[in-house]
Amino acid sequence: MVITIDGPAGAGKSTVGRELAKSLGFTYLDTGAMYRAVALAALKSSVSIDDANGLDTLCPGLVIKFSGSRILLNGKDITEDIRTPLMDRLSSAVSAVPVVRTHLTRLQREMARGIDLVAEGRDMGTVVFPHAEFKFFLTASPEERARRRKGDIERKGIDMPFEEILAAIRARDAADSNRPVAPLRPAEDAVLVDSSELNISQVIELMTRHVKNRMRASTISP
Ligand code: DC
Repeated sequence: MVITIDGPAGAGKSTVGRELAKSLGFTYLDTGAMYRAVALAALKSSVSIDDANGLDTLCPGLVIKFSGSRILLNGKDITEDIRTPLMDRLSSAVSAVPVVRTHLTRLQREMARGIDLVAEGRDMGTVVFPHAEFKFFLTASPEERARRRKGDIERKGIDMPFEEILAAIRARDAADSNRPVAPLRPAEDAVLVDSSELNISQVIELMTRHVKNRMRASTISP
Protein backbone atom coordinates (compact mmCIF):
# COMPACT_ATOMS: atom_id res chain seq x y z
CA MET A 1 0.00 0.00 0.00
CA VAL A 2 1.17 3.54 -0.76
CA ILE A 3 0.23 6.71 1.15
CA THR A 4 1.33 9.95 -0.49
CA ILE A 5 1.98 13.30 1.18
CA ASP A 6 2.61 16.25 -1.13
CA GLY A 7 2.88 19.91 -0.32
CA PRO A 8 5.12 22.99 -0.32
CA ALA A 9 8.43 23.40 1.50
CA GLY A 10 8.17 23.74 5.26
CA ALA A 11 4.61 22.43 5.67
CA GLY A 12 5.88 19.69 8.02
CA LYS A 13 5.70 16.83 5.50
CA SER A 14 8.91 15.12 6.65
CA THR A 15 8.08 15.01 10.35
CA VAL A 16 4.49 14.01 9.67
CA GLY A 17 5.47 11.43 7.02
CA ARG A 18 8.08 9.83 9.25
CA GLU A 19 5.71 9.60 12.23
CA LEU A 20 2.78 8.35 10.16
CA ALA A 21 5.01 5.64 8.65
CA LYS A 22 6.21 4.66 12.12
CA SER A 23 2.71 4.43 13.57
CA LEU A 24 1.51 2.25 10.67
CA GLY A 25 4.68 0.16 10.40
CA PHE A 26 5.32 1.44 6.85
CA THR A 27 8.60 2.49 5.19
CA TYR A 28 9.09 6.25 4.78
CA LEU A 29 10.41 7.71 1.52
CA ASP A 30 11.66 11.33 1.44
CA THR A 31 11.78 12.09 -2.30
CA GLY A 32 12.90 15.69 -1.73
CA ALA A 33 16.12 14.25 -0.30
CA MET A 34 16.60 12.38 -3.60
CA TYR A 35 16.35 15.62 -5.63
CA ARG A 36 18.77 17.17 -3.16
CA ALA A 37 21.18 14.24 -3.67
CA VAL A 38 21.14 14.77 -7.46
CA ALA A 39 21.73 18.51 -6.95
CA LEU A 40 24.70 17.79 -4.68
CA ALA A 41 26.13 15.26 -7.16
CA ALA A 42 25.80 17.82 -9.98
CA LEU A 43 27.54 20.46 -7.87
CA LYS A 44 30.41 18.11 -6.95
CA SER A 45 30.83 16.94 -10.55
CA SER A 46 30.63 20.52 -11.89
CA VAL A 47 27.61 19.65 -14.04
CA SER A 48 25.53 22.79 -14.53
CA ILE A 49 21.82 22.65 -13.65
CA ASP A 50 21.17 24.04 -17.18
CA ASP A 51 23.05 21.16 -18.79
CA ALA A 52 20.28 18.59 -19.44
CA ASN A 53 22.65 16.28 -21.35
CA GLY A 54 25.20 16.40 -18.55
CA LEU A 55 22.49 15.57 -15.98
CA ASP A 56 21.19 12.76 -18.19
CA THR A 57 24.67 11.23 -18.18
CA LEU A 58 25.20 11.87 -14.46
CA CYS A 59 21.94 10.39 -13.12
CA PRO A 60 22.30 6.68 -14.08
CA GLY A 61 25.69 6.54 -12.32
CA LEU A 62 24.29 7.71 -8.98
CA VAL A 63 23.49 5.21 -6.26
CA ILE A 64 20.95 6.85 -3.92
CA LYS A 65 20.01 4.80 -0.87
CA PHE A 66 18.35 5.35 2.49
CA SER A 67 19.61 3.80 5.70
CA GLY A 68 17.16 4.57 8.51
CA SER A 69 16.89 8.34 8.60
CA ARG A 70 20.19 8.81 6.69
CA ILE A 71 20.64 9.24 2.95
CA LEU A 72 23.67 7.85 1.15
CA LEU A 73 24.99 8.97 -2.22
CA ASN A 74 27.39 6.45 -3.77
CA GLY A 75 27.90 5.02 -0.26
CA LYS A 76 28.67 8.38 1.39
CA ASP A 77 26.37 9.81 4.07
CA ILE A 78 25.17 13.19 2.75
CA THR A 79 22.28 13.75 5.21
CA GLU A 80 23.66 17.05 6.55
CA ASP A 81 25.30 18.24 3.30
CA ILE A 82 21.96 18.46 1.48
CA ARG A 83 20.24 20.64 4.12
CA THR A 84 21.64 24.07 3.34
CA PRO A 85 20.03 27.18 1.76
CA LEU A 86 22.21 26.59 -1.34
CA MET A 87 20.89 23.04 -1.67
CA ASP A 88 17.30 24.33 -1.18
CA ARG A 89 17.78 26.44 -4.32
CA LEU A 90 19.80 23.93 -6.36
CA SER A 91 17.43 21.03 -5.65
CA SER A 92 14.43 23.12 -6.69
CA ALA A 93 16.25 24.06 -9.93
CA VAL A 94 17.37 20.48 -10.68
CA SER A 95 13.84 19.18 -10.02
CA ALA A 96 12.52 21.21 -12.97
CA VAL A 97 14.78 19.29 -15.40
CA PRO A 98 12.69 16.58 -17.14
CA VAL A 99 15.50 13.97 -17.43
CA VAL A 100 16.10 14.18 -13.70
CA ARG A 101 12.39 13.70 -12.96
CA THR A 102 12.18 10.72 -15.32
CA HIS A 103 15.16 9.11 -13.62
CA LEU A 104 13.94 9.70 -10.05
CA THR A 105 10.33 8.75 -10.82
CA ARG A 106 11.56 5.36 -12.06
CA LEU A 107 13.77 4.91 -9.00
CA GLN A 108 10.95 5.87 -6.60
CA ARG A 109 8.58 3.35 -8.18
CA GLU A 110 11.27 0.66 -7.91
CA MET A 111 11.79 1.52 -4.23
CA ALA A 112 8.03 1.12 -3.61
CA ARG A 113 7.78 -2.32 -5.16
CA GLY A 114 6.41 -4.93 -2.76
CA ILE A 115 6.45 -2.75 0.36
CA ASP A 116 4.04 -0.51 2.29
CA LEU A 117 5.20 3.05 1.88
CA VAL A 118 4.56 6.63 3.00
CA ALA A 119 6.00 8.69 0.13
CA GLU A 120 6.53 12.40 0.60
CA GLY A 121 7.28 15.06 -2.03
CA ARG A 122 5.61 17.32 -4.60
CA ASP A 123 4.28 14.91 -7.26
CA MET A 124 3.72 11.69 -5.32
CA GLY A 125 -0.08 11.66 -5.68
CA THR A 126 -0.22 13.29 -9.12
CA VAL A 127 2.57 11.57 -11.08
CA VAL A 128 4.64 8.93 -9.29
CA PHE A 129 1.88 7.02 -7.48
CA PRO A 130 -1.40 8.10 -9.12
CA HIS A 131 -3.12 4.94 -7.81
CA ALA A 132 -2.02 5.38 -4.18
CA GLU A 133 -4.65 4.22 -1.69
CA PHE A 134 -4.38 7.42 0.39
CA LYS A 135 -3.29 10.87 -0.73
CA PHE A 136 -2.72 13.92 1.42
CA PHE A 137 -1.80 17.47 0.48
CA LEU A 138 -0.26 19.18 3.47
CA THR A 139 0.09 22.91 3.41
CA ALA A 140 0.42 25.96 5.70
CA SER A 141 0.63 29.70 5.10
CA PRO A 142 4.02 30.96 3.84
CA GLU A 143 4.41 33.05 7.03
CA GLU A 144 3.85 30.04 9.30
CA ARG A 145 6.25 27.92 7.22
CA ALA A 146 8.87 30.69 7.38
CA ARG A 147 8.45 30.87 11.19
CA ARG A 148 9.01 27.10 11.47
CA ARG A 149 11.99 27.23 9.09
CA LYS A 150 13.54 30.06 11.15
CA GLY A 151 13.24 27.86 14.25
CA ASP A 152 14.93 24.94 12.44
CA ILE A 153 17.76 27.15 11.18
CA GLU A 154 18.28 28.74 14.60
CA ARG A 155 18.57 25.30 16.20
CA LYS A 156 21.53 24.75 13.85
CA GLY A 157 23.08 27.95 15.23
CA ILE A 158 22.42 30.03 12.09
CA ASP A 159 20.76 33.43 12.28
CA MET A 160 18.85 34.49 9.16
CA PRO A 161 16.34 37.38 8.95
CA PHE A 162 12.69 36.26 8.88
CA GLU A 163 12.00 38.34 5.73
CA GLU A 164 14.84 36.61 3.88
CA ILE A 165 13.50 33.15 4.82
CA LEU A 166 9.96 34.15 3.81
CA ALA A 167 11.20 35.46 0.44
CA ALA A 168 13.11 32.20 -0.19
CA ILE A 169 10.01 30.14 0.66
CA ARG A 170 7.83 32.21 -1.67
CA ALA A 171 10.43 31.92 -4.47
CA ARG A 172 10.64 28.12 -4.06
CA ASP A 173 6.82 27.80 -3.97
CA ALA A 174 6.62 29.75 -7.22
CA ALA A 175 9.38 27.70 -8.90
CA ASP A 176 7.94 24.34 -7.76
CA SER A 177 4.35 25.29 -8.70
CA ASN A 178 5.00 26.94 -12.06
CA ARG A 179 7.40 24.48 -13.69
CA PRO A 180 5.96 22.71 -16.74
CA VAL A 181 6.83 19.16 -15.59
CA ALA A 182 5.11 17.65 -12.52
CA PRO A 183 4.32 20.99 -10.84
CA LEU A 184 3.38 21.13 -7.18
CA ARG A 185 -0.40 20.79 -6.95
CA PRO A 186 -2.86 18.63 -5.02
CA ALA A 187 -4.08 15.45 -6.71
CA GLU A 188 -7.82 15.63 -7.40
CA ASP A 189 -8.44 12.86 -4.88
CA ALA A 190 -6.09 14.19 -2.18
CA VAL A 191 -7.29 15.12 1.31
CA LEU A 192 -6.22 18.72 1.94
CA VAL A 193 -4.72 19.42 5.37
CA ASP A 194 -3.84 22.99 6.37
CA SER A 195 -1.39 22.83 9.27
CA SER A 196 -1.20 26.63 9.85
CA GLU A 197 -3.30 26.35 13.00
CA LEU A 198 -2.34 22.80 13.98
CA ASN A 199 0.75 21.46 15.67
CA ILE A 200 2.59 18.45 14.26
CA SER A 201 0.98 15.97 16.68
CA GLN A 202 -2.49 17.19 15.71
CA VAL A 203 -1.69 16.75 12.01
CA ILE A 204 -0.32 13.24 12.59
CA GLU A 205 -3.36 12.31 14.64
CA LEU A 206 -5.74 13.66 11.99
CA MET A 207 -4.02 11.72 9.19
CA THR A 208 -3.62 8.51 11.17
CA ARG A 209 -7.30 8.63 12.13
CA HIS A 210 -8.30 9.18 8.51
CA VAL A 211 -6.21 6.21 7.30
CA LYS A 212 -7.29 3.86 10.10
CA ASN A 213 -11.00 4.78 9.77
CA ARG A 214 -10.99 4.16 6.05
CA MET A 215 -9.05 0.91 6.44
CA ARG A 216 -11.59 -0.23 8.99
CA ALA A 217 -14.56 0.85 6.85
CA SER A 218 -13.29 -1.03 3.81
CA THR A 219 -11.49 -4.27 3.22
CA ILE A 220 -8.14 -2.48 2.87
CA SER A 221 -5.50 -3.84 5.22
CA PRO A 222 -1.96 -2.51 5.60
O1 DC B 1 11.00 18.58 0.11
P1 DC B 1 12.36 19.24 -0.12
O2 DC B 1 12.38 20.68 0.29
O3 DC B 1 13.49 18.47 0.48
O4 DC B 1 12.55 19.19 -1.73
C1 DC B 1 13.64 19.81 -2.36
C2 DC B 1 13.22 20.24 -3.76
O5 DC B 1 12.97 19.08 -4.55
C3 DC B 1 11.95 21.07 -3.82
O6 DC B 1 12.22 22.44 -4.01
C4 DC B 1 11.17 20.54 -4.97
C5 DC B 1 11.84 19.26 -5.36
N1 DC B 1 10.98 18.08 -5.25
C6 DC B 1 10.22 17.75 -6.35
O7 DC B 1 10.22 18.47 -7.33
N2 DC B 1 9.49 16.62 -6.35
C7 DC B 1 9.46 15.82 -5.28
N3 DC B 1 8.73 14.72 -5.32
C8 DC B 1 10.20 16.16 -4.12
C9 DC B 1 10.94 17.33 -4.13
